Amino acid sequence: MAPVVLRTVAEVKAWTAGLRREGRRLALVPTMGYLHDGHLSLMREGRGRADVVATSIFVNPTQFGPREDLSRYPRDLSGDLAKCASAGVDVVFAPEDPNVMYPPGYQTYVEVTEVSQGMCGERRPGHFRGVAIIVTQLLCLFRPEVALFGEKDYQQLQVIKALNRDLHLGVDIVGMPTVREPDGLAMSSRNAYLSPEERQRALSLSRGLKAAQTLLKEGTREASALVGAVRRELEAAGLREDYVELVDAERLKPLAQVAPGQSARLLVAAFSGTTRLIDNMPLGG
Ligand code: PAF
Repeated sequence: MAPVVLRTVAEVKAWTAGLRREGRRLALVPTMGYLHDGHLSLMREGRGRADVVATSIFVNPTQFGPREDLSRYPRDLSGDLAKCASAGVDVVFAPEDPNVMYPPGYQTYVEVTEVSQGMCGERRPGHFRGVAIIVTQLLCLFRPEVALFGEKDYQQLQVIKALNRDLHLGVDIVGMPTVREPDGLAMSSRNAYLSPEERQRALSLSRGLKAAQTLLKEGTREASALVGAVRRELEAAGLREDYVELVDAERLKPLAQVAPGQSARLLVAAFSGTTRLIDNMPLGG
C-alpha cells in the first residue's frame, strides 16, 4: 500500500498523537532520500521491531559544508515513495522545504563533543552539528520506540547514540550492517555521481578493508600495517585519500594496534574523481 505522506510538523504531531492513543510502537528511519537497498533494509528491520514504520526524506542543509554537494544531491521523491511502499513503510515525512525544519528565528543546535572529533568530523567541519540537530529534531518530533541507521555512516551512528543517551531520549538506536553491491561497493546515494570508470576504481575502498581484515586474521595487529593495506589499494586505483583510521569501535579513539579480544573499526574516506566516498569494516572483537 502507498505510504501516507506528511509535509508539515503539525501533520506529524497529529499523526503521532493518534499512534500514542492507540498504544502502537513506532520505528523511524531517517533518510535524505534517493533510496537504495541499504535504506530498505532499515525499513524492513523496522517492520519487524514495531507496529508502524515511518521514514523521513529530507536533504538536511545544515550538514553540508559551503563547498559540498547540497544543491546537486540526488532527489527522486516519486521513486522513493514506490520503494517505501515495497518495504512496508506506513508514513513518509517529506518536508517541502528547509523552512519546515528551520523556520525563521530557528537557533537551536546540539554539539556532541567527543565521537564527532576526527575523521569526517575533522574533514567536514560542522557536518555532525547538522546531523545531530536534525536527528534530535526528528526523534523529539516522532518520539519513536526504535530508530534505525546504517553502519556505513559509522561515525554518524556513534554521534546519534551519544546524543540519544546524553539527552535521555530513550530511543532504541539500531545500527544495521552496510549493504553492498555484489562486487563489494558499499551502497550510497552518492554512488549515482560515479562514472563507470570511477565506480570501478571505487572498489578499492572495500578491497582494502577486506585485505586488512585478512591481515588481522593472520595475526597482524599494528595499525600501521592495517591502515597500510587500505592505502595500498587506494593508491593502486589512483584514489585520493581523505583519511584511513583504525579506532576503537565505540569511543572512536585512534588505536596503535588491535589488542586480542578488542572491538576495533577501520574507517576510510577517499575521492574517486570528485566524489567523496566512505566505508568501514569491523576488525577484531
Ligand atoms: O544518513 C543520512 O542519510 C543523514 O545523515 C541523516 C541521518 C538522515 C540525517 O540527515
